[in-house]
Amino acid sequence: MSVEAEKPLGPIDTERPYKKLIDFRNKTYLAPLTTVGNLPFRRICKEYGVDITCGEMAMAKNLLHGQQSEWALTKRHASEDIFGMQICGSKIDQVVKACELINNETDVDFVDLNMGCPIDLVFKAGAGSALPESRGKMVKMIKGMQTVLDVPVTVKFRTGLKENTPTAHKLIPRFEELNVGLCTIHGRSRMQRYTKSANWDYIRSLKQEFTKIPLFGNGDVLSFEDYNNCKAQSGVDGIMIGRGALIKPWIFDEIKEQRHWDISSRERLDMLKRFCNYGLEHWGTDSQGVNNTRRFLCEWQSFLYRYVPVGVMEVVPQKLNERAPPYFGRDELETLMASPKAADWVKLSEMLLGPAPEDFTFVPKHKANSFEVMIYIYI
Ligand SMILES: Cc1cc2nc3c(=O)[nH]c(=O)nc-3n(C[C@H](O)[C@H](O)[C@H](O)COP(=O)(O)O)c2cc1C
Repeated sequence: MSVEAEKPLGPIDTERPYKKLIDFRNKTYLAPLTTVGNLPFRRICKEYGVDITCGEMAMAKNLLHGQQSEWALTKRHASEDIFGMQICGSKIDQVVKACELINNETDVDFVDLNMGCPIDLVFKAGAGSALPESRGKMVKMIKGMQTVLDVPVTVKFRTGLKENTPTAHKLIPRFEELNVGLCTIHGRSRMQRYTKSANWDYIRSLKQEFTKIPLFGNGDVLSFEDYNNCKAQSGVDGIMIGRGALIKPWIFDEIKEQRHWDISSRERLDMLKRFCNYGLEHWGTDSQGVNNTRRFLCEWQSFLYRYVPVGVMEVVPQKLNERAPPYFGRDELETLMASPKAADWVKLSEMLLGPAPEDFTFVPKHKANSFEVMIYIYI
């Protein structure tokens, strides 16, 4: 008798049981971060105690074209014990097909659908922050993903398109019907850049409407106090952290220990040394691997330099949307680490990776030092 014939008769079970259910609640979550949220950086965050990590956004179309660099984004490190990948696409069949491949070819614990990417190219194609505008398509896409994946589907979205007319609350009934594994809201609209604060009041009002599935909030958390306040005020089930982790990855340790860490420049250099080792392991030790490691280190340093050591601050904690005046550190290294100049970031890289090639120039992709142009570049 075949195995099939032994199954009890009855209706076909259309809801695939998840292989692995994840309890996301009350865990810290490192945001998906294009370019800078690479595997070596995530290893550093794991060392400082983050619970959930997510890979950089991958485009469904590129995955279907078999682009190696896109598939590399789904790679996890052994230390990433709750690891998801993020997918972005505008066509249902492409996203679902890509998820089928992800299910067969990769080892991830969840797949997050990007519904927040603001950039024109993605938006105009109907992906990212445009998806919630086509509600029917969005629902079909998530259903399709759930059908082919053995792991939970999660979603990340913004408050809406325009700052003064938030629309995310209209999505809640859909997400609850679909029983998605986790919703994360970045408390900004598509049009809103990083100059204005995230809207945690709106996040709180949203949380009051969520009854069945967990909701995480995201936006502007740079200290354990920010974390505590945002969590208590909004009642969310957890917090996702992006730039706060780039500027000071030890924020996860501060949250766990509930204290400020006056980390020394030596300890910070050690962290960079570990990053370089992980980088060489990940990108290779040949000249291209070293070059990549240097480039991604500089890319990260374009955020790291904004950290102001606890010991030199008049008022703690530092706030994400406040710019500190230039200062001298407590030693030469601390001063160098605070430099906003790309040439100094290369100098730092030379302390760890040896001299940069003569033709090496560095222009940060994310231009973190300019708030006006602070948009994230996806593709
Ligand atoms: C450099 C950079 C890259 C980003 N890449 C992505 C991405 O790939 N996918 C995504 O959903 N959000 C991306 N974001 C948005 C963040 O995940 C997060 O929602 C946003 O930065 C707000 O959180 P924060 O205030 O903690 O930084 C990116 C943000 C930055 C600064």
